[in-house]
Amino acid sequence: ADALVRRRRQSRRREKVRAIADGFRRRCATPIEKLQRLADAMTDEMHAGLLLDGGSKLKMLVSYVDNLPTGDEKGLFYALDLGGTNFRVMRVVLGGQEGRVVKQESVEVSIPPHVMTATSDELFDFIAQALKRFVDTEGEDMRPSPGRQRELGFTFSFPVNQTSISSGNLIKWTKGFSIDETVGQDVVAELTKAMERVGVDMRVAALVNDTVGTLAGGRYNNPDVIAAVILGTGTNAAYAERANAIPKMKGALPKSGEMVINMEWGSFHSSHLPLTEYDKALDIESLNPGDQIFEKVISGMYLGEILRRVLLKMAEEAALFGDVVPPKLTSPFILRTPVMSAMHHDTSSDLTVVGSKLREVFEISNTSVETRELIVELCNIIATRGARLSAAGIFGILKKVGRDTIQKGDKKKSVIALDGGLFEHYTKFRDCLKSTLTEFLGDEVSESVTIELSNDGSGIGAALLAASHSRYLEATEE
Ligand code: GLC
Repeated sequence: ADALVRRRRQSRRREKVRAIADGFRRRCATPIEKLQRLADAMTDEMHAGLLLDGGSKLKMLVSYVDNLPTGDEKGLFYALDLGGTNFRVMRVVLGGQEGRVVKQESVEVSIPPHVMTATSDELFDFIAQALKRFVDTEGEDMRPSPGRQRELGFTFSFPVNQTSISSGNLIKWTKGFSIDETVGQDVVAELTKAMERVGVDMRVAALVNDTVGTLAGGRYNNPDVIAAVILGTGTNAAYAERANAIPKMKGALPKSGEMVINMEWGSFHSSHLPLTEYDKALDIESLNPGDQIFEKVISGMYLGEILRRVLLKMAEEAALFGDVVPPKLTSPFILRTPVMSAMHHDTSSDLTVVGSKLREVFEISNTSVETRELIVELCNIIATRGARLSAAGIFGILKKVGRDTIQKGDKKKSVIALDGGLFEHYTKFRDCLKSTLTEFLGDEVSESVTIELSNDGSGIGAALLAASHSRYLEATEE
């Protein structure tokens, strides 16, 4: 009789787990008609954000970059990249048309989590110190000419209201950063003060978002690059817009007739977004509730956390991992997206990778193959939704710039430069994004639109923009 009771309970739990999984799958569904509506909403919001400040959730920030790199850029420049889990310092020697990138060196430093939520001075001192250590390793062949101050392209991957190419005030923090006193401050002034404190003699020549840096780096390598998208810890896009399509822009139109726009698409929101109870709870408990909703269903910072929340629900309500809920399962952000990706790509017949990750991360052992299969299924639901939503965003941009269809005889190519760890390392995410974009475009048009990995393009991009905004430009052009 005992055995019978146990078997009944087992099957009730199984049904409950199935019900939760099915409900989740339904809520995450992204049929193409829904994606079409989202892409249309993206295009509409782009218009609204370009019309006036605050016109849309999409900030559509004017970057002050009105000329993308041409290949003429020359000289030694530094670049600094802050905005993900790591930050990077690099130096580049640009050789102009013949030489291109003659030499480049870089170091990566991981940011201790407490620094992301410390004080402004602590954060910027930390950066300036790493920069100083790096400058001290400058070799004979990578030194500025005598009397010339070093110049820096500062990639700062958060929403900034730029006041010029080399100044701008932080609108808000995103991703894991949260330091109230920095909000509203000019981040270039903050960095410059820190550089003075630690004794680095350097001038910020260009302040750029990572999307803008990636666009610049992408265009340098390929003249057909029209937009850049980051899919990493966070997500965002930038593209070259016609200056006369930006009513909110004050002052004289740039001579080039173009202006790069940092969309900050992470803050896109629409009633068509497929959100679940897990997404809503994640948002409420996050550092920035109500903000960055698109980012929270797409980017690397959050995908693993969504999975953890679904598993926790299944553990609590259907005893997925036995009678007690594994304590580690209740710990926010313990399941990182690279681990989710590893589980999702597990090709072994009894899913040994899934089993060992569950043990490592949650101290859960002896899971059945059935449970592991369920977890792979959940990974697939979450990654598919994120990838398809990203594709809808890209299609929205293509519509805005009129590259979603082709006129007869038109051979124009449109290249989107993509960067970020999520896109680079999460194969199934990347493949799904690409196939969804093809679904949007149809076979014919999709031949003229390509997605290109622009690995670390934002570092070189920032250096290139520093070069084209160098104070010694006249001198180098001689
Ligand atoms: C976040 C930031 C944005 C950045 C993106 C990718 O969305 O707000 O500025 O471009 O992450 O790093």
